[in-house]
Amino acid sequence: MTKKSKKYRSAVRAAITGVHGYVPPDVLTNAELSRMVDTSNEWIVERTGIKERHILKGKGLGTSHMGAEAVRGLLKKTGTAPGDVDLLICATTTPDLVFPSTANLICDMADIRNIGSFDVQAACSGFVYALTIAAQFVESGTYRKVIVVGADKMSAIIDYTDRATCVLFGDGAGAVLIEPNRKYGIVDTLISSDGSGMKHLHQKAGGSRLPPTAETVAKRLHYVHQEGAAVYKFAIARMADVATELLRRNHLTKDTLDWLVPHQANMRIIEATAERIGLPPERVMVTIQKYGNTTAATIPLCLWDYEKKLKAGNRLLLAAFGGGFTWGGIYMTWAYDGGSRTEGKTGEGQRRRKGVGKALTARLAAMVKVPVALLAPWPASILRRAGS
Ligand code: ACO
Repeated sequence: MTKKSKKYRSAVRAAITGVHGYVPPDVLTNAELSRMVDTSNEWIVERTGIKERHILKGKGLGTSHMGAEAVRGLLKKTGTAPGDVDLLICATTTPDLVFPSTANLICDMADIRNIGSFDVQAACSGFVYALTIAAQFVESGTYRKVIVVGADKMSAIIDYTDRATCVLFGDGAGAVLIEPNRKYGIVDTLISSDGSGMKHLHQKAGGSRLPPTAETVAKRLHYVHQEGAAVYKFAIARMADVATELLRRNHLTKDTLDWLVPHQANMRIIEATAERIGLPPERVMVTIQKYGNTTAATIPLCLWDYEKKLKAGNRLLLAAFGGGFTWGGIYMTWAYDGGSRTEGKTGEGQRRRKGVGKALTARLAAMVKVPVALLAPWPASILRRAGS
């Protein structure tokens, strides 16, 4: 499956010391999709596990918008100054532009200047690839603070007349901070690829092989072309191979592994991978029901969602596969107690709620004639009802 590599083990590990995510506020439900194509909520839930996905709307907003939101939140919650970041890597298949890189644009938007930044393109395995690269810089002592972003605006390249593909994908971004650590961090990595899989999953036009023309647009060649069944077969095999190989290499068993963090492409693929290594569902991170497949963002969004449950020393196995074909995995020990670091989620949805809360507070203060400060903050449950 993968060429054997004798891995050099550094005394210093590259550890994730913070995670943050962003999903845009607009939600596309299965019910809405069934009004757009010949499908149903029952079919989508039964075959994929997806109930809804977030879609980035707004003129001129690309992948960098979501990546920058995630990075700004990450800097804030880890107390990192933009000037302290040494390197930023962005995994994406939907860059804002062919050039410059989306990593470049994210740095500018997050006020991070004069550092190295570049994109990594490995489709849905992109985050695992980018994290593997980042680890080399930290383990070697070259850099002390590296940010890895996984971000994709899949809605930009999805054909919303193709029912077999459009139900699967969503938009989102996640970002992690990587720092040196003597106790915890990345222990083992595995990345691999097989370019002969291209025919089953690719975007036909828009690159140098077939640059955009009126004809390529008319033929809908700028959308994801996917042969679902072929990709499914490959994905099931490779995800399980990656997971079992990393367990074997690191003398782990289902009892000593705490969490599987799988790429979120299809609930059935996630379940098959967990089953192959004997892990019960409560130790498998799953966000597919609410985000769909956000390509390079699925794994950091899982870490963000489950952060509160994570404890220092937890053993995590990340596993991904994607277009190319590409696949990969990472075995790491978690570096901090998530509950102690978690901060309120940021993003437009949350800001909108806060705005509604403020307006309600002011209105009530006027009615009962007391200073606004005495009424704030509103209990979260009231804000939730007011904002939703
Ligand atoms: N609603 C209703 N029916 C549908 C839909 C839909 N949304 N989509 C497909 N069907 C139909 C098909 O037309 C077919 O009908 P037919 O038998 O009359 O021809 C039937 O359902 C079964 O089709 P299959 O493709 O066999 O369905 P399957 O159970 O395999 O599910 C799916 C399709 C969900 C796409 C699955 O194959 C899959 O998840 N594949 C892997 C996708 C994936 O992981 N992609 C990775 C992307 S990663 C990256 O790098 C971008």
